[in-house]
Amino acid sequence: MIFSRSRASRVPVSAPAGGGEAGAPRHVAIIMDGNGRWAKARHLPRIAGHRAGAEAVRRTLRAASKFGIECVTLYAFSSENWKRPEQEVADLTGLMKQFIRAELDEMHRNNIRLRIIGDHRAFEPEAAAMVDAAVARTAGNDGFTLVVALNYGAQDELARAMRTLGAQVKAGTLDPAEIRPELIAAQLDTADLPPLDLLIRSSGEQRLSNFLLWQAAYAELYFTETLWPDFDEASLAEALASFGQRERRFGGL
Ligand code: IPE
Ligand code: IPE
Ligand code: MG
Repeated sequence: MIFSRSRASRVPVSAPAGGGEAGAPRHVAIIMDGNGRWAKARHLPRIAGHRAGAEAVRRTLRAASKFGIECVTLYAFSSENWKRPEQEVADLTGLMKQFIRAELDEMHRNNIRLRIIGDHRAFEPEAAAMVDAAVARTAGNDGFTLVVALNYGAQDELARAMRTLGAQVKAGTLDPAEIRPELIAAQLDTADLPPLDLLIRSSGEQRLSNFLLWQAAYAELYFTETLWPDFDEASLAEALASFGQRERRFGGL
């Protein structure tokens, strides 16, 4: 099983009043990277790394729920990942379907809400329909929120938001002077989610690869050498401990 709310407990860090250490994050995003290298090191095909990566997703979500995190956003497929060979895209799509088939009932029982950011309609129709059905079925849940980034790119997300605002300006319903950060944020795929507190990337790469560029403005960044298929509860605990020691200033003192 992936989630157990009954065992939910806060990480042993608490937000001190009046600033100081960061406490516990509400919203954690993860760039799950390193599946291919994990497989390569074992002389296995890349799909084996992605399969092991799906197991790491289960472990990590269970741990996140146990640690009392409200919302986890997982980068599962970027708008640039279409550049990969067709077979790899098909394998990743297949794994996504398998994950929904295997986990949806339990997610729903555990009051988990599934949200998607990005445009998942670009995937083959059966996969896109399964995602739609999973989102619709869990829409009323108000426990843990699992956000999956599918065919997501932050630049694409911002371009879509700008198109919407541009159309409103053209229609005469929006004065350009009213375009402030809050208005832009409200147009993003993440509009109804808690602010991003912590962004984790596995596999040693230190870049954002077009993930949550706007939302990461004041997120704490955490990079680990651990390859995604090896990521587990202890890895998440380490990231949370690091976050707990950060002094978040948001430009103030
Ligand atoms: C992350 O692992 C999974 C996806 C991008 C879908 P990679 O497939 O990027 O693994 P590496 O970076 O080649 O090791
Ligand atoms: C980022 O990883 C995308 C996901 C984890 C889904 P990539 O492996 O695609 O990133 P780059 O190409 O190394 O920047
Ligand atoms: Mg990669």
